[in-house]
Amino acid sequence: MKAELLYEGKAKKVYRSSTDSEKLVLSYKNDATAFNGKKKESFPGKGRLNNLISSLIFPYLHERGIKSHFMKRLNETEQLVMETTIIPMEVVVRNLATGSITKRLGLREKTPFSPPLVELFYKNDDLDDPLINDDHALLLTDVIHKELREIKAQALEINTVLTEFFQSINLKLVDFKLEFGRLPNGDIVLSDEISPDTCRLWDLKTNEKMDKDVFRQGTGDLITVYEQILQRLERRV
Ligand code: TMP
Repeated sequence: MKAELLYEGKAKKVYRSSTDSEKLVLSYKNDATAFNGKKKESFPGKGRLNNLISSLIFPYLHERGIKSHFMKRLNETEQLVMETTIIPMEVVVRNLATGSITKRLGLREKTPFSPPLVELFYKNDDLDDPLINDDHALLLTDVIHKELREIKAQALEINTVLTEFFQSINLKLVDFKLEFGRLPNGDIVLSDEISPDTCRLWDLKTNEKMDKDVFRQGTGDLITVYEQILQRLERRV
């Protein structure tokens, strides 16, 4: 299914599909990085878990009217997606204060955001992905004003859908990061992955962290918590 390797990121490899040149194969790696790659470790089985988890979430979003690059899961570690040009902007939605925003703005841990907060970061490893505003996003990317408005509205819609989704498996969606990409026809769609690498998920009852923070903070076993997320998702379906 795979032809040439187009790109290798910190958590995935991207290949052109050998059967359809307009499609890509995303191959999930076992590597976990944090703090812009300064902390790095490989966890056997992580690629499979994120591929399976993301491959359950994207079809669910699709059923709820959220268009994305996702086409289908191919096997344990790979999925087929439509080719997009990734917009170099990370869109973060926050329901509760934790992580970088508490340090940046001095907010108390767990301060609720109502309405949820949307933040933009410039996807640039050399600059450590700095926080940017709308004007910066228009300057640094090819999105136009109307598209940026739509991206932010869609991020909030995804938050509504996913908050309820995760609640049904006893998880609180604290915050998450999205990436968007441009299809060859110019349309912008949700791209990349949605997984415990890109979301903060806390157990609804115990507040236990069940996401990449266990690796970032060295407080637990990444594979154990990702396995639990997958099991809860599979039981739900
Ligand atoms: P932050 O609090 O570190 O800014 O993270 C906000 C959310 O974005 C959190 O759910 C983790 C996710 N995230 C990524 O997916 N990739 C990243 O590179 C960073 C910094 C955060």
